[in-house]
Order: sequence, then structure tokens, then C-alpha cells
Amino acid sequence: MRQPALELVIAALEKIRDTSNHAPRASRNALAQLLSIYSVAASLPGTPELCEGRRATCVSPKRPQPQQTASHKAEMLASVRERVCGCTKCAHLASSRTQTVFGVGNPDAEIMFIGEAPGADEDQQGEPFVGRAGQLLTKIIKAMGFAREDVYIANILKCRPDMPAGSFGNRAPTPAEMQTCRPYLVEQIDIIQPRVLVALGAVAVEGLLGARGTMRELRGRWHSYNGMPLMITYHPAYLLRNQSPSEKRKVWEDMMQVLERLEKPISEKQRNYFL
Ligand code: URA
Repeated sequence: MRQPALELVIAALEKIRDTSNHAPRASRNALAQLLSIYSVAASLPGTPELCEGRRATCVSPKRPQPQQTASHKAEMLASVRERVCGCTKCAHLASSRTQTVFGVGNPDAEIMFIGEAPGADEDQQGEPFVGRAGQLLTKIIKAMGFAREDVYIANILKCRPDMPAGSFGNRAPTPAEMQTCRPYLVEQIDIIQPRVLVALGAVAVEGLLGARGTMRELRGRWHSYNGMPLMITYHPAYLLRNQSPSEKRKVWEDMMQVLERLEKPISEKQRNYFL
């Protein structure tokens, strides 16, 4: 489903970004209002083709109101996903990837997890965090009392960082790659507006905030991204390399802070995990 007003504005903003030193941004409210222009047009007489199957979501032409429903968010995300799918800004990544890896989960999620970049499994399956580290992340999410479908999971980079022919493993995204891809993540966050962001590892923090730091100094306390509470914790891949209960406990304490922030109940059993 295309939203003409939204598409026009995005194209204009992209042109400004590509032809100047400015990095224009649009707030979620602005995007939602542009979406509601579509809805208003769809409810006007004489535009039957726009209205097909959409009467339920049309807003009154007299009082257009931005609607932040899950289905609006899903539509807005679908439009970003479409652009990501065809993205060739990093020519080397566009030519090496199997597919882009956009993000997965609830468009209306309270929690959004942010990783660094797809690995080989994610590149094959088109979904973030499905490999070994992903399975551990899914366990953490479940231990928090959520299903994977309840939260939203995305990466700084939407393409797998390319590897020299014949070599295995993953490489970290470069600062230039992260800077190029970051606007897509910013759009995802602006649309979803989670109550809490969780950055997984120092690379994700660098991609999101542009700040470098050690996990020792960053993790376990609240930071802020655009006024949104941001918790920084270890990447699940770190826990796979360091299997000691004390490291698991650190991540778990960070996640309990997230649950507390969301005012979710924490059972005695949960409080004692990895002690
Ligand atoms: N690591 C990440 O940071 N993201 C993925 O999607 C998978 C592994």
C-alpha cells in the first residue's frame, strides 16, 4: 500500500540528505499526519479506488487526527521496508547480500532490541537474530515474560557485512556503513515508538548514538535516545563466548531494570535467575 504524501516527503528529504550536508529528520507525528492525509483522501467522494477496503481506518475529513494504531505503524514500516529492500547505498553490501534483513516483531512493541548487523543465518533467512546469538536473545525475551512476537528486533545495518571470498565468520560494520544505514533504524524507532530501547553491545551503541565506549562503563544504566529510555547491555554473542553465570546475571539485571521501567511484575523466581 503506497501513501503518496508520505512517499513525496520521504523522496524530498532523501534528496536534501543526498545533495547537502544536512541530515533532515521527520518525527513520528509528522509521518502519522502524512499517513492520515492518505486516509482523508480515501474517505472523500470521487476517490473510490483509494477507499477500497479502507473505510474502517479513514478519519473524518473535518478533523484529521494522526492515528498511531498498530496497523498504521505496520503500514509505515512496510513502506520503509520497501525502500530498504531496494537499497544500494552501500554498493559492496548490496551486491554481496542474499537479501536485506529489515526487522521483525510487533509494530506496536513496548520494547525494541537493537543489534549490530545480520550474520550468515540472518542473511539467509531474512530475519534478525535467528542464529545462535538470536536463539539466546529469544530465550532472554521469554525469560522476561514476552514472546518474540511481542517485541521488535532490528539491527543498525540491514545488510550482512561482506566477507572476503573464502573466509568465514562475521565482521563488524564500519562506521561509514552504520552512518549510511542508520536513517532506516531511526525511521523504525520513530514509527514504533517503543517505551524502552535495548542496545545489544558496543557496536549497536556506536551505531545508534555515535558514541564509543566500553561495555563496562555503558551497560546496566539508563541512557537516552531522543528522549526514549535506552538500556545498554551485552550482545548475546558475548554471552556465548563468556558462559559464566556472573556475565549472564549482568544481562539479566539489565533486563530486570527494563521490566521495572515497564512496570511489569517480576516473580521471585525471575529475581533469582543466575544467582
Ligand atoms: N547479531 C546481530 O547483531 N544481529 C543479528 O541479527 C544477528 C546476530
